[in-house]
Amino acid sequence: MYKIAVIPGDGTGPEVVREALKVADVATQKAGIKCDYTFFDFGGDRYLKTGEALPDTAVDVMRQFDAMFLGAIGHPDVAPGVLEKGILLRLRFELDQYVNVRPVKLYPGVECPLKDKGPEHIDFVVIRENTEGLYGGMGGFQYKGTPQEVSTQIHCTTRFGAERAIRFAFDLARKRKDMNQLHLVGKTNVLTFVHDTWWRAFNEVGESDYPDIKREYAHVDATCMWFVKNPEWFDVIVVENMFGDIITDLGAMIQGGMGIAAGGNINPNGVSMFEPIGGSAPKYTGQNVINPLAAICAVQMMFDQLGEAQAAELIESAVVKALTCGKVKSLSVGKMGLSTTEVGDLVAGYVADA
Ligand code: IPM
Ligand code: MN
Repeated sequence: MYKIAVIPGDGTGPEVVREALKVADVATQKAGIKCDYTFFDFGGDRYLKTGEALPDTAVDVMRQFDAMFLGAIGHPDVAPGVLEKGILLRLRFELDQYVNVRPVKLYPGVECPLKDKGPEHIDFVVIRENTEGLYGGMGGFQYKGTPQEVSTQIHCTTRFGAERAIRFAFDLARKRKDMNQLHLVGKTNVLTFVHDTWWRAFNEVGESDYPDIKREYAHVDATCMWFVKNPEWFDVIVVENMFGDIITDLGAMIQGGMGIAAGGNINPNGVSMFEPIGGSAPKYTGQNVINPLAAICAVQMMFDQLGEAQAAELIESAVVKALTCGKVKSLSVGKMGLSTTEVGDLVAGYVADA
């Protein structure tokens, strides 16, 4: 029995969570496992009512769970940063979910914006360092609101933080047995302190512990170019937090868009949190039009992380069937040809029939 904390969150979060859990229920039943879901109301509405983004006990409560599943965080009536930092980033940091795992996989049946690229070209995983860099929160204002205003936002990388993300990525490259290759993405030509630490950690760890994995390096700007021009060059990528945030949105686009992009905030020794990466899409709330596939893929990642390969595999094959059966016209809002509920039913049906 797995104990799962569910945070449906804001906007369309609850709608996609509902469909993902519908699929999870069928998959767990088939795989002979059980999940017990506990729902938490963290999000914009709760914040507007209570004035607190997360109750102080929340982090410790989360530690009792085997995994967490998050819909979306973001509310139009709450200032930018409050919920992101107060809920999402706080959970990532305090639960030490030190890597953000973002598979970029183009499934068959999905329209790719890149000319002449298909599923055989787009299948890689980005390992984004998830607790440091510009996200660490160092910096501040001086003389705020005056013409002399000074603001700093400091990137802090620790060797420890870089190294553990790098090791996670090397392990994944080995496990995938695909190209046995790991790319470090950085900016060693300009950011010569931080990215020097990353560069040495990458090469030292690789040379001593992963001689079987080929090491490659790409600057972050060039990486954006290669994602579009030659995505088939990538197998696993390891990257610091801010650059990782940026390139994973580009990655989402080449795999078919936010409608299918899922991620996991992973603490290999603790509780991990899985989420569709698309955001709360407030203007579509309650309309039953948003694509639940990203949330369904996030649940698939969750079972994978829990070691439930069969449940994960059932969901992934059902997603592929749903994408190739001709009923899902597009992954974009308003063009799917099916409602949120109908996409959930379709995938759940394929899981049941497997
Ligand atoms: C993501 C999101 C978050 C991030 C925001 C919502 C804080 O963009 O998960 O990529 O920047 O990490
Ligand atoms: Mn992002």
